[in-house]
Amino acid sequence: MSAYWLGIDIGTGGSRALLVNETGRIVAARTAAHEEMRMERPLWAEQRPENWWDACQEAIRGVLADAGVTGAAVRGISLSGQMHGLVILDANGVVIRPSLIWCDQRSQAQVDAINAKVGKARVLECIANPVLTGFTLPKLLWVRDNEPANYELVRHLLLPKDYVRYQLTGELASEVSDASGTALFDVVNRRWSYELADALGIDRSILPKVYESEELTGTISASAAAATGLAAETPVFGGGGDQAASAVGNGIVAPGLVSDTIGTSGVVFAHMDAVAYDPAGRVHTFCHAVRGKWHVMGVTQGAGLSLQWFRNQLASTESYDDLTRAAARCTPGARGLFWLPYLMGERTPHLDSMCRAAWVGLTAAHTRADMTRAVLEGVCYSQKDCLDIIRGLGCDVTSVRLSGGGAKSAMWKQLFADVFGTPVSVLETQEGSAYGAALLAMTGTGAFGSVVEACTATIREVENIPPGADSAFYQRAHGVYQALYPALRESFRAIDSLG
Ligand code: XUL
Repeated sequence: MSAYWLGIDIGTGGSRALLVNETGRIVAARTAAHEEMRMERPLWAEQRPENWWDACQEAIRGVLADAGVTGAAVRGISLSGQMHGLVILDANGVVIRPSLIWCDQRSQAQVDAINAKVGKARVLECIANPVLTGFTLPKLLWVRDNEPANYELVRHLLLPKDYVRYQLTGELASEVSDASGTALFDVVNRRWSYELADALGIDRSILPKVYESEELTGTISASAAAATGLAAETPVFGGGGDQAASAVGNGIVAPGLVSDTIGTSGVVFAHMDAVAYDPAGRVHTFCHAVRGKWHVMGVTQGAGLSLQWFRNQLASTESYDDLTRAAARCTPGARGLFWLPYLMGERTPHLDSMCRAAWVGLTAAHTRADMTRAVLEGVCYSQKDCLDIIRGLGCDVTSVRLSGGGAKSAMWKQLFADVFGTPVSVLETQEGSAYGAALLAMTGTGAFGSVVEACTATIREVENIPPGADSAFYQRAHGVYQALYPALRESFRAIDSLG
């Protein structure tokens, strides 16, 4: 019987199940959409963990059916998922309230309280990062401060993909790359920071057991087997936060390799053999899904989200292809129009939960195509901000591997190369996180000796795009873009104070 491995990615928009064979070739993939995130107030964002699990079951059943494969042929499974989301369970393992997901920005008061109580310098010593509103810890404290009755019930804290793991295996477990994004994890020593938990009065027992990414965390339970078509006892390995898993799927597992993944967020990601962090905390230093290695990444909160929002609100009858084709015909710089992509506040480089998106430079002459072009350019400028900080940390960036939305349009690929002033490349397999999870499952079962070996055997660049003639223009335009946030910063605070 042929053997297969399953990678599952719990994204923001949907859950994806992807099946690979012995050589790591993709056999089938299926996505099941999630409910829209619920945004009760600006900059709040919630999803229901139960909905992730429903979508995940649908995607698994679908991929097995598409491939004509029975659960018994699946040798191993691994998980990837949107990071930082707060999933809290009661003593019976039941979800207490919807998850405050990665882009939820409501917890600035809790971040300030943590810094006041523990001290910013001590926080950095404990977790190698500053605490940010996007991370899990301040979200937990928001629940403690605002919903004490819910907090009373909390017995377990999980991350999004680890909630799905719990449904699949009955095990409460996480792994180092995703745990790094909780702000409760000692990234340098790859263990929970009990120092920080204790200092903030968080019960250690709510934290799940943490594994390395290719370690066995449990096996498929009888009930999950019945729900998904997988075979009971199939091993489930650690996996990774979506960015670390995507980096594995893109082969970013050695020094000098850098990727840029455009999903709802946009992430510039670089591998590190030895741990190092930005003293200003503008980029995140987290454990990699490669044993004993780390990575640094910069995050634009509203990357793919900018284009999605623009299309849904202002161009709902157009396809993404039509929009980008029209944008390709506009002049570079969109005739002086700039888009600041801060739809959900911003992490890198501003670390500002209050900033908001903006068009700057609109005139009556501008068309929808110019606006689309400005959105695409604005996302590239913000990703260049991330790349420049990573370069500043001593990372020698000679080329950037694109994946996700940024790798899908010819126009956007060239734009990335032009704005970065660096060649970009595209891989044969553009499945990112779900593919990375599948490679981690293969490594877990011993089909590959290590994650690096898995990547070497399976990942190939198929396209290389050097910066073109417009690159010099974009270096100047990036300077104009960079001056806009400081000019608007205080206005964003004034807007926030209006309530
Ligand atoms: C990474 C991050 C996002 C989410 C959603 O820090 O917040 O990439 O994981 O994809």
